[in-house]
Amino acid sequence: MGRPLAPVDSWSGGNDYENYVGRWSRLVAPRFVAWLSVQPGARWLDVGCGTGALTETVLLDGSPDAIVGIDPSPDFLAVAAAQVPDPRASFRPGNAQAIPLEDATVDVVVSGLVLNFVPDREAALREMRRVTRAGGTVGAYVWDYQGEMQLMKLFWDTAAALDPASRTLHEASRFRFCRPGPLRALFIDAGLLSVEVEPIVVPTVFRDFDDYWTPFLHASAPAPTYARSLGEDQREALRTALQRRLPTRDDGSIHLTAGAWAVRGFNGG
Ligand SMILES: C[S@@+](CC[C@H](N)C(=O)[O-])C[C@H]1O[C@@H](n2cnc3c(N)ncnc32)[C@H](O)[C@@H]1O
Repeated sequence: MGRPLAPVDSWSGGNDYENYVGRWSRLVAPRFVAWLSVQPGARWLDVGCGTGALTETVLLDGSPDAIVGIDPSPDFLAVAAAQVPDPRASFRPGNAQAIPLEDATVDVVVSGLVLNFVPDREAALREMRRVTRAGGTVGAYVWDYQGEMQLMKLFWDTAAALDPASRTLHEASRFRFCRPGPLRALFIDAGLLSVEVEPIVVPTVFRDFDDYWTPFLHASAPAPTYARSLGEDQREALRTALQRRLPTRDDGSIHLTAGAWAVRGFNGG
């Protein structure tokens, strides 16, 4: 321990991602789609669709005419395509900074848990606005890494106490952008109108400690990548410290929350 660490954000192994945060993103997505309040029959784009958590919710709750999901990860796209056989949905490779769609071809652009991983967010917002018709909606949500995204915050707080070098990887420090002020500014600076930010907090109930810990051993997101980079003894020390720290009920279950910040704005044309 003690070595300086560089962040690694890799996205593969769709099923492992599902067990890590896909299952919690799926609880945030319905609240987000309801908040957007889009008329049925719209054409949607899901940027960074991953394994399809938000796409699936739009199909269930948003009554779209069609939805396209784009993502740079072939693994995640394969899981999304298998999980979402709806003929209104299609998936294709794509990057937020160069969206593979013509100008003004969708009514709504959404993006769940992606913006903080995009190197040039301003370019992404320009692209989102470009492909949205005049009067259409652009909306996104990101985890509240500094507050209510407790499963990750507890992980990193515990890791930082054991391994000071890991502090540079703590997602609350890396993703300071994930706060209402910077989110609002990003959307306003992109020229979107009537920009609003809304907190969404959902319960994350783990059956037992293993249900919390096991996904960190397999998924490809930042915290699991760090957990797997440790030697066996260090990982065991982290596991034990976390088990001591997490609020465990008599039946072994662990009740935390996952919080997100949602932001939306309209394309004035
Ligand atoms: C935390 S996952 C979120 C996936 C999904 N939207 C969800 O809610 O479960 C982050 C996703 O962003 C994608 N991603 C990373 N960089 C991207 C970029 N520059 N453009 C588009 N998507 C990107 C990753 O491949 C991954 O699928």
